[in-house]
Amino acid sequence: MPAYGKLIGASLGPGDPELITRRAWTVLESGTRWLYPVKKAEETSYALSIVARGGLAIPDDAEQLIFPMTRDAEILTKAWARAAARTVELLADGRDLVFLVEGDASTFSTFGHLARVVRELVPEVAVETIPGVSSFAAAAASTGITLAEEDETLAVIPAAYGVGVIDHLLDEFDTVVLLKVKPLVDEIIELLERRGLLNTSCFVEKVGAPDERVVHDLATLKGEKANYLSLMLVQNPKRERGELRRGCRSRKDALATLKTLATESA
Ligand SMILES: C[S@@+](CC[C@H](N)C(=O)[O-])C[C@H]1O[C@@H](n2cnc3c(N)ncnc32)[C@H](O)[C@@H]1O
Repeated sequence: MPAYGKLIGASLGPGDPELITRRAWTVLESGTRWLYPVKKAEETSYALSIVARGGLAIPDDAEQLIFPMTRDAEILTKAWARAAARTVELLADGRDLVFLVEGDASTFSTFGHLARVVRELVPEVAVETIPGVSSFAAAAASTGITLAEEDETLAVIPAAYGVGVIDHLLDEFDTVVLLKVKPLVDEIIELLERRGLLNTSCFVEKVGAPDERVVHDLATLKGEKANYLSLMLVQNPKRERGELRRGCRSRKDALATLKTLATESA
């Protein structure tokens, strides 16, 4: 049985190479073989472009894995099987592999699924995930928006659940991060308009990349074709809060106890 190399998922952050962690950088420079995702054969890889902008030379033996952007189950299954089989084949050489991940590798990333399928094929393969800066953390920093403070609630969802679900979440969450907004931009804007949240929301495209775009006036986006690498941050100051529990007791109970203690000690 071959001694398999380790499979490493290296988060590269969402676009600015300055946000690549030292750990990821060290692994990229260590002679580990690189794998990077593309949507079609010979297409450019966004993850690879982050590293290239950071000034690292792309090794000659870096290899692409194809993950098509389709909902066709048959095409997807075949592509995933091919990608996993190739990964296992390379790991069987005994050399570690680093899979380049845009954003954070544990957040809506191809890496989690790839690692799972590889481990199904070869359970003894060791997997390491290097955490990183997610697109929405960078977008919050870039726009000056705070995602959550104190007891605020934060939801992160792919917008594909539709405006009905987003509408419902806005009853419960102080901040809603919407990823993969591309096909739904107009509908989301209409919803935010209806809820009076246009002024507290913003759209961010390709955060950290040289062509990053931040749009505060969301109405101007109507009818526009958004890039796949775009998201919305929705702040919801109108949310009505329920009662908070602190240390397993409700705030009301805690206040009542404090009052009793104060009366007793008076
Ligand atoms: C498959 S998810 C990948 C998420 C990524 N792993 C992360 O940590 O942010 C792709 C979605 O993330 C968001 N996204 C990823 N990179 C982005 C970027 N540089 N700028 C804006 N949004 C981005 C977009 O909503 C995009 O549709």
